[in-house]
Amino acid sequence: MEIDLAKPYTITPLRTMGRHMHCLATEMNEIAFERQGVVQRLLKASVVNPLANYLPAALFRAALRFGKSELAASNWADPGGWRSMVISYDGKPRQIADKILVGAGTIPMALRNRRKLAAKILAILIDESPSDPVHALCVGAGPGRIIMDAMLQANREAYATLVDMNTDPFEHGRLQARQEGLDGKVRFIQCDVRDGVGAILDHQPDIVKMIGICEYLLDTEIIQIARAVAAVMPATAPIVFNSLSNAHGTDRFFRRVFGLHMNHRTPAQLQQLMQQAGFDSFDAHPEPLGVYHVIVGRKAAEPTTDPAKGNT
Ligand SMILES: C[S@@+](CC[C@H](N)C(=O)[O-])C[C@H]1O[C@@H](n2cnc3c(N)ncnc32)[C@H](O)[C@@H]1O
Repeated sequence: MEIDLAKPYTITPLRTMGRHMHCLATEMNEIAFERQGVVQRLLKASVVNPLANYLPAALFRAALRFGKSELAASNWADPGGWRSMVISYDGKPRQIADKILVGAGTIPMALRNRRKLAAKILAILIDESPSDPVHALCVGAGPGRIIMDAMLQANREAYATLVDMNTDPFEHGRLQARQEGLDGKVRFIQCDVRDGVGAILDHQPDIVKMIGICEYLLDTEIIQIARAVAAVMPATAPIVFNSLSNAHGTDRFFRRVFGLHMNHRTPAQLQQLMQQAGFDSFDAHPEPLGVYHVIVGRKAAEPTTDPAKGNT
């Protein structure tokens, strides 16, 4: 599903059991998203993006090195890794090169929109959960910024198990949790989720979050991870993940200059993969730049093996 950027932006209300649809739509439309005006979009499409995509990559790399770009350095060290997410989420870099890239770049703007949208959706799901306290499992969690935002917004008690195959982001995450007063409510565990998560969990997760990970994975890896989490989730429990469209128009720039190879998939393509892992009843919510959709699916009562039988 692609969105028409010329139309006024409205978010589809989240499918919900308890809260009134109208209130949910209002809550989601009150999010302070970053947007681009018509002139900015035209300028990017006709001038900025073609230059970024086709000028020699060596020129950009030299300029970014000279300008001590932290965003470029973090991507060169770990393309699309958690550190570049943190730089984009914070949106207040020190170096001039980063102020331009992070402040005006479509992907960093869309990442900040995705953070706000995913946090709001997760907060609503926490408040809707029948469990008390609510347990969220975050896969490829990095330092856990989005689930912490959601826990701070939710009215109900929640705790989170943050799983990542890489321990590097954990120290940053623990510091953030202390600063946010969430110490003791988040725990970080190193685990490659493809190997299964049952052994590291003491309680079933009420919500599973897979934000910021699918675009770096192959189809087979997404199915493998989704099957591993489906195996520990109760029926109808929600999973939250995101798609990535090439509406940002700078894929060639990111590949050549940052070495960042992202897999673009429509919500329908991603839902089809999730269906193969046993999820259905999907709702896709776009952020206003049309780059990311945040999608909520539900663990099927019985694993859906035939995509034709699934409920999209
Ligand atoms: C781009 S970061 C996103 C971090 C965070 N979810 C966010 O949106 O800010 C992706 C993270 O997924 C982790 N990851 C990738 N494959 C994984 C796997 N099979 N099991 C656990 N973590 C994985 C990486 O180590 C990385 O920290």
